[in-house]
Amino acid sequence: VLDIRKLYGQAGVFTYDPGFTSTAACDSAITFIDGDQGILTHRGYPIEQLATQSRFLEVAYLLLYGELPTPKQLTDFETLVTRHTMIHEQMQYFFRGFRRDAHPMATMVGVVGALSAFYHDSTDINDPQHREVASIRLIAKMPTIAAMAYKYSIGQPFVYPRNDLDYAANFLHMCFAVPAEPYHVDPIIARAMDRIFTLHADHEQNASTSTVRLASSSGANPFACIAAGIACLWGPAHGGANQACLEMLREIGTVERIPEYIAKAKDKSDPFRLMGFGHRVYKNFDPRAKIMQQTADEVLALLGIENNPTLQVAKELERIALQDEYFIEKKLYPNVDFYSGIILEAIGFPTSMFTPIFALARTVGWISQWKEQLADPQLKIGRPRQLYMGESLRDYVSIDKR
Ligand code: ACO
Repeated sequence: VLDIRKLYGQAGVFTYDPGFTSTAACDSAITFIDGDQGILTHRGYPIEQLATQSRFLEVAYLLLYGELPTPKQLTDFETLVTRHTMIHEQMQYFFRGFRRDAHPMATMVGVVGALSAFYHDSTDINDPQHREVASIRLIAKMPTIAAMAYKYSIGQPFVYPRNDLDYAANFLHMCFAVPAEPYHVDPIIARAMDRIFTLHADHEQNASTSTVRLASSSGANPFACIAAGIACLWGPAHGGANQACLEMLREIGTVERIPEYIAKAKDKSDPFRLMGFGHRVYKNFDPRAKIMQQTADEVLALLGIENNPTLQVAKELERIALQDEYFIEKKLYPNVDFYSGIILEAIGFPTSMFTPIFALARTVGWISQWKEQLADPQLKIGRPRQLYMGESLRDYVSIDKR
């Protein structure tokens, strides 16, 4: 009998790498991470400098085009993005087709995929002009779509973009303005929002970015590829961790209960993990987590809620975990999701909006990686191999003999 499993390896070198822990699927010039030292750079610039000195759309330009913009380039880019913030009026019907209590991520997966039906004049991936227009459309419309998904989920009327506001302030306006009530965007809160966007802009070949690249490798249109990225990001091991983390911190509730949760996280018979802890690449502090913690301190002080119990639980949990043998040995440190939820909650977002906000910011990274991939003359369809462990060759048995 032919054992088909033995056919493996006969056609050349074959590596088996579940979870791609040590396999590079592409080369890229966008983002660099040194996980042992806790270094993150975009196009060579350290994330600490970009998060504190730059603005999200400036970082978006850097990711997309490779260099920091001149003042004129930045103004032109901002104007271009601003001009595309509206979505087709007819798309409102798409939102209205969802259950009113749908998770905004579920709505976003559908609506972003549907952009390909509304903007099919920019889906020819072989046309550089189409690629450019699709990129700008996605970056510009994602805040509108995320805000509409939120408004729909809470039963409030959609709020149209205000193009006199900057990217982050406009998003806050679309989420929190209600008819007949004046809404003023606090510039310091808008700055914190902008910083959160910047900290999530790109992170090289994580699960959702790899999903975008894999979808794109077959020639799929840009809107479909980004919808695939959103779907992947939603999982609690990835972007969904920010929602799961805040829910965990609230469940812990008081610092006295922390040891109980640390013990649960260490118990191998319990599937519980400390959300917002650990990372595939960082075996040291995630540099974004440090900036996020500082931002949480600033925003909560500004809002006069420094004594926020969730922040206290988070800080104490971090302190205890970092002294614990288990976390030291496995090199588990807080990641970007550990403090972001505390800031977003203080700004006024419900937990269900945390991952959509991540998705809107990461769209810039997904698009930059998508463009880089399409410009690669060596581009091949992504096609991982497998190690077949099933039955060997056998004969079909007719149903009356089974
Ligand atoms: N709590 C407790 N133990 C953990 C945690 C955690 N948060 N993270 C990893 N471990 C343990 C694992 O149980 C495993 O232990 P073992 O060696 O005894 O089996 C070991 O550390 C290695 O963990 P893996 O899951 O193999 O590591 P991997 O690189 O595959 O996973 C991941 C990384 C998914 C981020 C993981 O650390 C995790 O689940 N963290 C919690 C979820 C989270 O915060 N995700 C956000 C990541 S950042 C982002 O996507 C934006």
